[in-house]
Order: sequence, then structure tokens, then C-alpha cells
Amino acid sequence: MNVDGKQMRPIWFDTQSQTVQVIDQRFLPHKLIVEDLKTVDQTIYAIKEMFVRGAPLIGATGALGVYISLVQKDNKGADNAYLVAECHRLKNARPTAMNLFWGVDRVMKAALKHPAYQARVTAALDEALAVIEEEAVNCQKIGEYGLPIIEAISKKKNGEPVNILTHCNAGWLACIEYGTATAPVYTAFDNGIDVHVWVDETRPLNQGSRLTAWELGKHGVKHTVITDNAGGHIMQHGMVDLVIVGTDRTTRAGDVANKIGTYLKALAAKDNHIPFYVALPSSTFDWSITDGIADIPIEQRDPDEIRYVQGLCNGKIEQVLVPPETSAAANHAFDVTPARLVTGFITERGVCKATEQDIMAMFPDKKTN
Ligand code: MRU
Repeated sequence: MNVDGKQMRPIWFDTQSQTVQVIDQRFLPHKLIVEDLKTVDQTIYAIKEMFVRGAPLIGATGALGVYISLVQKDNKGADNAYLVAECHRLKNARPTAMNLFWGVDRVMKAALKHPAYQARVTAALDEALAVIEEEAVNCQKIGEYGLPIIEAISKKKNGEPVNILTHCNAGWLACIEYGTATAPVYTAFDNGIDVHVWVDETRPLNQGSRLTAWELGKHGVKHTVITDNAGGHIMQHGMVDLVIVGTDRTTRAGDVANKIGTYLKALAAKDNHIPFYVALPSSTFDWSITDGIADIPIEQRDPDEIRYVQGLCNGKIEQVLVPPETSAAANHAFDVTPARLVTGFITERGVCKATEQDIMAMFPDKKTN
């Protein structure tokens, strides 16, 4: 996507240096820092510490991580056990996003087909780059399929701004291009529809106020940052026409794991008769489970992410302590929104209802175990 006239993605393979490079999202919006990923340890660290984050991007990073395992210093050539063990380590970097396992497994499978070292390296890189390009196209299609939803609201409002609420960052920074939740927004904006986005700040790491606000602003989309607690109030006052969020893992029956706080937005949307859509590529579905609350592992992160807030102070990025030094804090990173609260899914194949029947009708080729 366009950042000050430069086309950027959050991850890419630099052909000149033959290195995987990523935007280090920890410092956005105040600093745009690019990092090299040259080892599996660095890749795992980048995923855990959230230089890269968001389900499709974690999947892409895991995919390229398989290639990195084959070319890093001290690699063990075409040793199958070594490759499988490195892939296992990559998959353990974060527990909730399905895309990580999907991306790593897909590239590992492609690489294992080639017993000769050089052919294995080439296969891993080609497959990882294919994953990235396919996910970019999937997000573009999510934008195209989501557009009529926004168009219909715009028509009903006689061209008045369509107010869309989103949570966390499910934009191009979390994907490769377009984003998932933001893809319909960008597509509507590019088609001349008047849109305005309510951006939940998304504590504790502020992916909304730091990342979504930044990328919407770079694209020229009108937006307003709100506290995570404001959604219910503005919905009650008719200030939200539509909610669109992304997801880290969705069961085949339609339960949705996404950034902590999503469930409360879905409850408020239901109470106020506001459509609540979830946008996702099929790589985010976990076809093996139906009960999201019981079966989706919810990441527990370092309580210091709650205790400290990061921001710009006198030109420097600083962290400040908020609660009393001795207070305990608990950092549940995701929650599960039951399918009954979801109006529909916007996928690369179209829009469907949040039921097992409709999801499987749209993806009959996916195995359900
Ligand atoms: O902890 P994060 O920043 O990786 O969480 C990201 C989210 O919750 C996104 O909403 C989700 O991955 C969908 S991304 C298109």
C-alpha cells in the first residue's frame, strides 16, 4: 500500500540481499523501522514480540520462516528431522492465529517433497512467496465482496458518510495488502463512497490507535480514534452503521477469536441492531473445530503490556507505568465471539452466514476431519 508515495508491504523478500525484511510495527506510527530476519530465532522473536502481528501476516512470516530455517547459518541442509523441528518451533511462536500453523505447514510440505538441498530451498522460497501473493489477492477479493454491504448503507443514507467501527488492526499491516476488515473500507473509499471509521484504540498495545489510524490516514480515509469502551455508547446514539473486524481463528461453525474486546463490540452491535461482519481469508478458518470457547487457545501475554503504556514524549518513544507498581495485571490477548452474534463472514469467495452449513457450502473443498 502507499506510504508517502512509496509502495510498501509489511513483509517482503529483498532479492538483492536475499533477505526477508519486515516493518517493525512496535514503533509505528512514530518510527518506520525495517528489520532483517536471518534466523529462525529472530523470526520467532519478531512474531512473539509483535514486530509482525495480525493473523495473515503471522502466516506469511511463518511461511518465510521455513525458508529461513533452510538458509540460516548452521542449517542442517536437507535433513528432514531438522526442518520439521524448526517448523515446530516456528508454530509455537504464538498460539491463537490459525494462519501461523497453516503457513508453516504449507511451506514445510512443499519443501519436504524435495530431498536435494538446493531444490528444497527453492521450493520453500517459491511456496512462501506464493502464500504471500495469494493472501494479497484474497484480501483484495474480500474488499470486492464487502463493497456492496457498504454501498447499500451509503445508498440508504443518501450518500451521507457510512460510519464503520473496527477493532484492533486488521489492515494491510496485519496482512499483506488491503487488510481484511479494512479491505471493504478501502475499496468503498476508492470507489468514491463517503466512509468514516471509528477506530477502537485497542488496549493494551493500541493496534487501533497506533496502526489502524496510521494506515487509514496514509490512505486519506476519515477516521476517529475512540476508547475501547466508547463503542456501546456511540452505537446507542446512531453513530455506527456497521462493524467490521478481522479474526485470528474462526471455527467451521462460525465462532470467532479476535483481539480482546471484540466480543463486547458484538454484544453491543446485536443490542443495537447493527450489522457485525467478520472479514477473513480461508487460511484463518480452523476446519477441525466447532466450539470456539472450548477449543481455541487464548494467548496470555506479559502483564507489563497492561501496566505500561508506550507513546512519543519529547521526540522519543517512551514507556510509562500506569497502575501501582505492586498491582497484579492479567493480559488475555483474544476473546471469542459466538457465531450467533456474527451477521456474516466476508471471505475471498463471497459473503456467507455464520453457520456451519453456510460456511461449508462456501468451502466444500475444505476438510472437516
Ligand atoms: O495481537 P495481534 O495484534 O496479532 O492481534 C491481531 C488481531 O486481533 C487482528 O484483528 C486479527 O489478526 C485479524 S488480522 C487481519
